[in-house]
Amino acid sequence: MSAQSAELAEILAGLKQPQKMISPKYFYDERGSQLFDAITHLPEYYPTETELGIMLDNIDEIADLVGPNASLIEYGSGSSRKTRALLEHLHELAVYVPVDISEDHLIATARKVRSEFPDLEVLPVVADFTQPFALPDPTITPLRNVVYFPGSTIGNFTHEAAQDLLGVMYQEAGADGAMLIGVDLQKDPGIIERAYNDSAGITAEFNLNMLTHLNREFGFDFDVGAFSHSAVYDPDEGRMVIELISGRDQVVTAGGEKIEVADGEAILTEYSHKYTLEGFADMAQQAGFAVRKVWTDADRLFSVQYCVRA
Ligand code: AVJ
Repeated sequence: MSAQSAELAEILAGLKQPQKMISPKYFYDERGSQLFDAITHLPEYYPTETELGIMLDNIDEIADLVGPNASLIEYGSGSSRKTRALLEHLHELAVYVPVDISEDHLIATARKVRSEFPDLEVLPVVADFTQPFALPDPTITPLRNVVYFPGSTIGNFTHEAAQDLLGVMYQEAGADGAMLIGVDLQKDPGIIERAYNDSAGITAEFNLNMLTHLNREFGFDFDVGAFSHSAVYDPDEGRMVIELISGRDQVVTAGGEKIEVADGEAILTEYSHKYTLEGFADMAQQAGFAVRKVWTDADRLFSVQYCVRA
C-alpha cells in the first residue's frame, strides 16, 4: 500500500467511528502551515509568545542544565525562534537533530539552520517520532541526548498516547538523557477558549482548511462551506475540543466509499490538553523521568520543563 492510500484508509477509518475524527496532522498542508504561523501571532493565542518569553528569560539556566557537548533532538522540525535561542546559547552543542515526518519541512529547516549556524553539525531524521527511531552518528560524540519537544504539541495526544510518547522519548534520550518540553497549563477557561476562537477568525479558517486539504489531496468532496468551526474547553478532561460541525446532511465520498454526515454532526479535528504541574509530573514520572526544573511566566499560563532520568 502506498503512503497515500495508507493515509486515505486511516482518514476513512476515523470518519467511520461513532465520533467522527480526523488526525490534526492533516491541518498542515502549505496553507495550513501558513495559517498556523498566523495563529502564533494572534493576540489571543498566548502559548507561542509565552513559551518564547520563558525560554528567553531562562536561557542561561537552561544552557547550564543541558551542559556542554549535548545532542539536541527536536521533535517536529523546528527553526522557530525558540530553537534559535537554544542553538545560540547551549554550550558547545555537539549536534542538532530535527526529527519530522515531512521530508520537505526537514530539508527547509536544515538549510535554514545550517546557514545561520555554519559550524554546527545538523543531522535531520525523517521519522514518525511517536515510534522509536535510530539516532544519527554525529562527528562529535555527545555527552547527553536532550529531546526537545516545544509548543505543547504533547497536548494533541490523549493522556494514554502522551504517556506512550513520553516512554519513547525516555528510551530515545538514553543513559544520562534529558527532555526539555513545553507544556500548556490549566487556567481560566475563558483565556483558553479565546485562544482557539480568535476574533480575526484565523483559527476557524485553519480548522476548515483541513477539509479543503482532504478534498484536494485525497479526493474527498466535503462541502467545506457548510461546516463551521467549534472550539470548547472541557474542564473535566482539561482539554480544548476542536471540531467541525456540519450545517446540513451531506454524503461525502472518497476512495469509492460513502460517509454520511448529519446536520449538526461534529467531526473531531483536535484535542489540546492542558496540564497541571502535578498532573504532568506524574505522567513524566511514570515514563521514568523526574522533573528537574519548571519555568513558567508570571501569570502561570505556560510551562517549560526540564526532565532527567529518575
Ligand atoms: C500546535 C498543537 C500546540 O494545541 O494550541 C492552535 C495547535 N490548534 N490553534 C495547540 C492549534 C488551533 C496547537 N498545537
